[in-house]
Amino acid sequence: MVIRIRPARPEDRDALGALKLRASLAWGDHVEELKALPEARQVPAEHLASVFVAELDGGIAGFATVLPRGDGEAELEDLFVDPHSWRCGIGARLVAEAERRAKALGTRSLHVIASERAHAFYERCGFRVVGTAMTAFAPAPEMRKTLAR
Ligand SMILES: CC(C)(COP(=O)(O)OP(=O)(O)OC[C@H]1O[C@@H](n2cnc3c(N)ncnc32)[C@H](O)[C@@H]1OP(=O)(O)O)[C@@H](O)C(=O)NCCC(=O)NCCS
Repeated sequence: MVIRIRPARPEDRDALGALKLRASLAWGDHVEELKALPEARQVPAEHLASVFVAELDGGIAGFATVLPRGDGEAELEDLFVDPHSWRCGIGARLVAEAERRAKALGTRSLHVIASERAHAFYERCGFRVVGTAMTAFAPAPEMRKTLAR
């Protein structure tokens, strides 16, 4: 299985939005609320330059976004893997790329607001809980990973 990471292109935006909704619905939580929420099917246009995608067999299988926070640290946002490709290592590969990009921004650590469902995944990737944040539907763990020099 060859996973290729590349920057997102403007023409990917619709496919990324559809993947985001598919992946969010796949947990089976808040289904009707997610379907009614425009943000659940959109990647903000202003984020696109900070989005990178994972391609599998030439198709987009996942994506993520890294943004500087303004406090010397970075935020991992919108990490989604197509449900057909879960548990193949694509999410972990996207996190590794996110860490590389966060370091390239000169930041010391990467933060993420995880859903409860994704908590075990982020723990496995080396993140630890540092607090709780409110999301559209429920409180969620805020997690942080210190980046190796
Ligand atoms: C969370 C998500 C990104 C994981 O992507 P993935 O490609 O399946 O993850 P990986 O295959 O790289 O998993 C790496 C390790 O994380 C852990 N892990 C991943 N998914 C897990 C799950 N559902 N439950 C428990 N552990 C999990 C496992 O230890 C896994 O290693 P293993 O498969 O060898 O046991 C994916 O499930 C997803 O897109 N979910 C919906 C969107 C979402 O919740 N995104 C996060 C928003 S905060």
